[in-house]
This record gives sequence, C-alpha cells and structure tokens, in this order.
Amino acid sequence: MKILVTGGCGFIGSHIVDAYIKLGHEVIIADKRQANLLPYKNPSASYFQINLTKSKEINKLIEDEKPDVINHHAANISVTNSLEKPLNDANNITSVINLLEAAKKYKVKKIIFASSAGAIYSEDKTLPFTEKTQPFPITPYGVSKLAGEYYIKAYSKICGIKYVILRYSNVYGPRQNNKNKSVISIFIENIINGKRLTINNNGDQTRDFIFVSDLVYANVLALKYDINNCFNISSQTETSIKDLSKKIKGMFNSEIKIKYKKMKSIEQNRSYISNKKALKELKWKPKVTLKQGLIETVKWYERNFKN
Ligand SMILES: NC(=O)c1ccc[n+]([C@@H]2O[C@H](COP(=O)([O-])OP(=O)(O)OC[C@H]3O[C@@H](n4cnc5c(N)ncnc54)[C@H](O)[C@@H]3O)[C@@H](O)[C@H]2O)c1
Repeated sequence: MKILVTGGCGFIGSHIVDAYIKLGHEVIIADKRQANLLPYKNPSASYFQINLTKSKEINKLIEDEKPDVINHHAANISVTNSLEKPLNDANNITSVINLLEAAKKYKVKKIIFASSAGAIYSEDKTLPFTEKTQPFPITPYGVSKLAGEYYIKAYSKICGIKYVILRYSNVYGPRQNNKNKSVISIFIENIINGKRLTINNNGDQTRDFIFVSDLVYANVLALKYDINNCFNISSQTETSIKDLSKKIKGMFNSEIKIKYKKMKSIEQNRSYISNKKALKELKWKPKVTLKQGLIETVKWYERNFKN
C-alpha cells in the first residue's frame, strides 16, 4: 500500500512511518520540517518539505504520488500557543481541507486522522468519556481537531473517502522532545538536569497516559479496518500528576524538590477516557503499562540527553 503520512517528522508520525515501512508499505511524508536534520529519519521513506496550508503544494504531491491512504498527523499541537495565537489553529483546519480537496480530486481511498480526546471532551460529569460523550472543546486547538473530524465526515459523504478517526489521550514516549513537551517529558528532563519539578495547584488533577507504540498499533489496525468510524485510543487509567511525579522521581531515586504553584487554569481536572469501543470493534488493546512505558522513555532520554 502507498501511504502519505503527514507530520511524519514529528513525535507520533515518525513512529508510524517506521511501523508502516516495517510492514512493507511504501511511505511518503509531508511535513513542514526539514527531514535532513532528524536523528530518526527513516532511509526507506520519501520526505517532502511541504506546508499543508499551501494547497498547490499538497495538491501536486498527491497528484504525483497518488497514495492509497492518507495518515494525517501534521498539526500545531500546543494548547498554550493555541490560546495565545488562536489563528494558528485555523491552519490545522486549512490543512485538513487542502488534503481532502486533493484526496477528492485524485481519488485517495482512505484517511486516518489523529484527533485528541484530551482536547475535545471537557465536561467531567460522566466519566469515563466515551465516543458518545458530547464533545465540548474549550481551546481553539480542540475546536480545530473537532472541526477536522467534521470535515472528514462531510467529505466522506461528498466523495466517498473512507475514514478512521483516532482520538488519542495523553501520548508519551521516546522522541517526544518537540516544542510541545508532555508533562512526562518535562519531569524526566528536569530530573536529568537537576531542576525542580513544578506542579499546578495540588497535583490531584488526572491524565490518561498512553504509550506511543500502543498508538502506532491502532494506526496499523486502522489501515485494514473497513468501516467509517471514530475511536478513543487511551489506557482508560487515571493517573494524578502528583503520583506521576512520585513514580518518575522513584525511577531516578531522586530527592528533587517539587514546587506546587497555585494558578487559575482552564485545564481539565480529570481526564479518564474509555477505550472499550476500540477494544471491541478495532480489536486494539493497549499493551504497555505506565511503568514499562516510563522505563522505555527514561532510557531514551538518558541515551540522548545525559552528559
Ligand atoms: N502528543 C499528544 O499527546 C497528542 C494527543 C492527541 C492528539 N495528538 C495529535 O497527534 C498529531 C501528532 O502530534 P505530535 O505529538 O507527534 O506532534 P509533533 O509536533 O511532534 O508533530 C507534528 C508534526 O506536524 C508538522 N506540521 C505541523 N503543521 C504543519 C503544516 N501546516 N504542514 C506540514 N507539517 C506540519 C510539524 O512540523 C511536526 O513535525 C497531531 O495532529 C496532534 O494533534 C497528539
């Protein structure tokens, strides 16, 4: 199969590229980043430095390469930036429309879309969040992800393109040292650099962490899954930020101090995301426990960032 992975130079996209190549697929990548500087550039993939907001460029790539499937992971992902510069997130929407227009013109069969469970569910009255929970994004980033889902569903009606939407919870793992680090990568980096950890408020807020290889497996299954559908991809396990900090400190036997910072924030208090539908219908299952995933992530940081 010929697959276009957008955002294939990024944290999650690069792991998906490796997995698809390993399975024998032909992979092309569209990313606005320079691939040559990537330490994990895959020599068997073809890289195209393209900004998806430029319709001509992405149109030409799809016309020339004619992929069977688009796996769409390119996006501005920073919630902080999203609140400061909300127009940047409009680029996420423009990118989806440009891709879908080209897909319609050149008859791409399927699109797999990286959406965000953490960003589109926001009311924590009925937990865990399921795919039936009414989405209510409270950041421009979340709105852009949900809008992407709706555009994909609309284009599926318009031109028949098939889709699988994957709503990820909080993803972590090796290679996550982008500008938009997760709390896990920030804690690990701080401990390695001897800096204290800062936790917002009392640290009782929870997140649902999912290791990147589990997510990659969902993207592999999505290639063969033949029904238009949307799945939460999560561990369905709540971990408080306070507990997380203890776990990571424990792995380093670190005595490093934690500063609890009182702040007004729009962040969710609890994030607990059901994965039952993916288990039943996609036949997916998370395999990596938080403990195992943290060990892998710490090893990667130590290999790459410890002097
Ligand atoms: N990291 C998470 O916890 C998480 C959770 C839910 C959903 N997601 C989604 O997964 C996807 C990948 O996230 P990530 O953590 O790997 O982020 P990342 O920042 O590491 O990767 C995103 C990649 O997209 C590229 N990109 C951004 N805008 C582009 C554009 N207009 N044109 C071309 N390339 C562009 C960037 O250069 C980068 O290489 C995103 O769509 C994000 O919304 C991530």
